[in-house]
Amino acid sequence: MEPISLSAALASFTDRWSPRIVTTVNDYDVRVAKVEGEHVWHAHDDTDEFFLVLEGELHIALREAAGERTVVLPKGSVFTVPRGTEHKPYAPGPTAILVLEPTGTLTVGDRHDDVPDHVDATTGHALT
Ligand code: NI
Repeated sequence: MEPISLSAALASFTDRWSPRIVTTVNDYDVRVAKVEGEHVWHAHDDTDEFFLVLEGELHIALREAAGERTVVLPKGSVFTVPRGTEHKPYAPGPTAILVLEPTGTLTVGDRHDDVPDHVDATTGHALT
């Protein structure tokens, strides 16, 4: 194991909404992704999902018991989507995020709307 530069990891690929696994912590993946535009409404039934914004700005639309709202995460912000909560990330411009979630977690969750072509339904890719 060697230290991993997040900037070098992010520079190693160009795909949007297609996370790379940079390391693992116990049963969790630490993933980084480049994102821009809309993801897809989805929910993870069995796990929370942690977001850290490395560059740019991430919006996450949430469907909660009280109704729908959107949280805005500028660079340097963290947010955890609770398990079972439908959510749809959106980035108004080029953005880089770090996501922490259990190994094997699908990017589109256990329930989701139709997945558009620009969204990669994956459990994360190895860095190359
Ligand atoms: Ni999610």
